[in-house]
Amino acid sequence: MTLWDGRFDAAMADSLWRLSESYPFDHVLYHYDIVGSRAHVRGLVMAGLLSDAEAEQLLGALDVVASEFDRGVFIRGSGDEDIHMAIERRVTELTPEVGAKLHTARSRNDQVATTMRLYVRDTLVDLARRVLALAETLVEVGEQDPERYLPGYTHLQRAQPVLLAHHLTAHAWALTRDIDRLLESRRRLNVSPLGAGALAGTSLGIDPGTTAALMGFDRAFANSMDAVSDRDFVAEALFDIALLGVHLSRMGEELVLWTTAEFGFASLGDAFTTGSSMLPQKKNSDVAELARAKAGRFIGNLTSLLVVLKGLPLSYNRDLQEDKEPLLDSVRNVVLVLDALRGAYRSVTFHDRVARIAAADPYLAAIDIAERLVESGVPFRRAHDMVGGAVGESVRSGRPFPEVIAEIPELCAFGDAFDAGATLRSRRSRGASGPVAWPTQAETWHRVAADLRRRLGELDHDRLASSES
Ligand code: ARG
Repeated sequence: MTLWDGRFDAAMADSLWRLSESYPFDHVLYHYDIVGSRAHVRGLVMAGLLSDAEAEQLLGALDVVASEFDRGVFIRGSGDEDIHMAIERRVTELTPEVGAKLHTARSRNDQVATTMRLYVRDTLVDLARRVLALAETLVEVGEQDPERYLPGYTHLQRAQPVLLAHHLTAHAWALTRDIDRLLESRRRLNVSPLGAGALAGTSLGIDPGTTAALMGFDRAFANSMDAVSDRDFVAEALFDIALLGVHLSRMGEELVLWTTAEFGFASLGDAFTTGSSMLPQKKNSDVAELARAKAGRFIGNLTSLLVVLKGLPLSYNRDLQEDKEPLLDSVRNVVLVLDALRGAYRSVTFHDRVARIAAADPYLAAIDIAERLVESGVPFRRAHDMVGGAVGESVRSGRPFPEVIAEIPELCAFGDAFDAGATLRSRRSRGASGPVAWPTQAETWHRVAADLRRRLGELDHDRLASSES
């Protein structure tokens, strides 16, 4: 028995039921569907379609349903195809007369779009908050010892010594862009589709602007067909997560490398590593590997939705129901990665000695010697060529680079460049990796982080307001 039985002679085939039901995955959206229904009830009162007393009964029944879900005692009815029908069915059971009025001037098409926007709106803020926590952890770990350094790489070949704080903060900057993207997506999606009906609006006198305001949306839709068919906001959320996931995967790969015996720059705490069922000595960085791997799923989920949307005719099509599993899956998994990775970074021990030895590789001083030559008036191309010649000589002869440099009259004065600490100190340009430039970057970082925290704090408030409406 479904809510639309009026028109049909035969019950739905089992196979169709199993194909089309979305309750198994959309019941988690119950809170947002109820927020939408509360606003809808108030809108119906203002439109003169419900009396105050009827609204009281409906709101009371919605509270009961919310509490049943909260306590995990809600029982799905056999005809509850999705969360929307489950809630309406239960409200109607609780208040049969007025329950039958709940769906006035509403379709599941504008209802599901509303529920999804409310859910995504909260979720983006929640994700942004977790991303900020991870970014702050990265910077904090770096700041534990701002003098600490290691080799920096390009092409995964040793390039120049860099500060660990600078290196970890590079990831944090990428995360700030993710946060900004999440908040921008939130801003764009904050338009209410409620009142669009099935696709064309309604002859009943509701005001979408009123319900939009009740739910904390910036405004209501301008076009009812667009309102019920638009899933751009889901695609954007999936993209935001996919790109965030790409950043997390790069961090994961780096932790995998750093914790190998070959690099040996860091170890993860025991609580963040796993053993082997066969090899007793193994300590594996699974947390970093999974952070690396999950990006595949995030990209897949984004791709899957884009393919669903591609070529869909206006307006609502049942295809749109396929937006939920990819989104819920990405959200669930990115939260797992964010939280575990944050713990993993907190647990890291850096092996200073190993990193310093690697950073003391004399070839890493080549650019510093060339820059000293530039300071003494030699054009850079010539300086590059002279130092490159010395590198070649050292490589060919197998003699240590500092020894070769010491024998070249124009270069022998620059032997102090082989002190990685000194070369780091000599890098003063804006945003450079070195203890002289670092405080400026740190200050900028903390200002940006504080600003993001403030923006997130303001949204926190919205969230409470919207869930109480
Ligand atoms: N479960 C559906 C979805 O996720 C709700 C909307 C159903 N609308 C309809 N006309 N069948 O999209």
